[in-house]
Amino acid sequence: MTKSLNEVTNKKYMKFLEESIDLKMLDSIVTVFYDKVLNDEKVSHFFKNIDMSRQEASFKLFLAYALYGKITYQGKFMKAVHADLNITVDQFNCVEMHMMDSLTLCKVPEDLVIGFSKMVASVKGHIISHS
Ligand code: HEM
Repeated sequence: MTKSLNEVTNKKYMKFLEESIDLKMLDSIVTVFYDKVLNDEKVSHFFKNIDMSRQEASFKLFLAYALYGKITYQGKFMKAVHADLNITVDQFNCVEMHMMDSLTLCKVPEDLVIGFSKMVASVKGHIISHS
């Protein structure tokens, strides 16, 4: 039976994920990170009306992109996503701290952490819209 292109691509993609990416590690980062964010009154209100399972899935994809740099992030652009939220520098720094702490708690290898913090710094200007 001939395989569809989709089937072949998916198989290749899954193989790439299995070989290159620690999916369990990504899952624990997402869990630890949103637990911190949702329990921090400085920023938890932003997520009150957000579908968290969808959010977690998007963030996991972002993590794969930011940590491994091989997957193109398919979500909406950072700027468009955060534009109407009026995020301040303080709120950004708070979320950034939770992200970095989550990577440490989940024992992400140091070289990946360095790349990740560069990525976060590069999107900072797109996310903050309020001084
Ligand atoms: C480095 C910093 C950040 C990164 C990498 C990041 C990443 C993301 C990603 C990947 C999404 C999902 C986009 C999609 O729907 O495809 C998202 C959405 C969202 N982010 Fe961020 N974010 C950051 C900072 C922040 C901060 C500082 C806040 C609030 C204080 C915030 C609040 C939100 C909210 C509320 C949404 C949901 C928007 C919606 O669905 O309407 N984010 N973010």
